[in-house]
Amino acid sequence: MNESIKKLTEHASVRDFKEIPLSAETKKTLITAARSASSSHFVQSFSILEITDEALRAQLAEITNSASYVNKTGAFYVFIADLYRQSRLLIEQKKSLDGLKNMESLLVCVVDAAIAAQSMVVAAESMELGICYIGGIRNDVREVSKLLKLPKYTLPLFGLTIGVPASKNQIKPRLLEKNQVGENYYPKEQFSDLSEYEDLSKKYYASRESNQQATSWSEKNIAFFEEVRRPEIAGYLKEQGFELN
Ligand SMILES: Cc1cc2nc3c(=O)[nH]c(=O)nc-3n(C[C@H](O)[C@H](O)[C@H](O)COP(=O)(O)O)c2cc1C
Repeated sequence: MNESIKKLTEHASVRDFKEIPLSAETKKTLITAARSASSSHFVQSFSILEITDEALRAQLAEITNSASYVNKTGAFYVFIADLYRQSRLLIEQKKSLDGLKNMESLLVCVVDAAIAAQSMVVAAESMELGICYIGGIRNDVREVSKLLKLPKYTLPLFGLTIGVPASKNQIKPRLLEKNQVGENYYPKEQFSDLSEYEDLSKKYYASRESNQQATSWSEKNIAFFEEVRRPEIAGYLKEQGFELN
């Protein structure tokens, strides 16, 4: 295993940063890494906003439920799934926006943004920086859109907080390979037999260094998915111009 791959396997989100701003050079490197990512059909349908205004960052932090590590960090970015540019091109040419508004195009820009963000993450971690994605910005997606002055055909997908770690979390044990990786045909039994992982994850939650819990991955997922979360997202996407069809 080379050093780059070893780093990937050592990933753990960081939620405790030193109050050291990232240098301009480091930020440039991170942005270059993100912008170099693959892009479906080369549409490059994402944008990145670095939030440098402290008052704005504090407002976003409040929304995220992750305030301490959004406010106290090296840099905070918001990744936006973004088809605004292409909408302008089509409108200027008086062309139909049907192909830009549909579910497929929404998937394209969400995937583009996620891949770019992960390239930034890999670059950051290779420089011994810590990262945490902040999906919490979608806790109030309309307010975030207003704060960031987002136009139509955009979606604020997640924040990314990056900085010098003050402390690190343990690596979380992943699903077993046999639960996630198959060959040719989807092995329903194999992928959904989580009994072994149940024990492993229970042990992890019970014995981790902080925030110990008597729970398991399955229990957490049942609690997560039995609730309808952020039901306003579909309506918001329609307001942003996406037709969910
Ligand atoms: C899209 C996305 C959104 C996330 N949002 C948050 C968040 O709002 N707050 C937070 O503390 N962690 C957030 N996380 C981090 C996950 O909780 C974390 O990746 C997961 O628990 C696995 O832990 P690890 O990253 O330490 O391996 C997010 C991760 C992803 C990929």
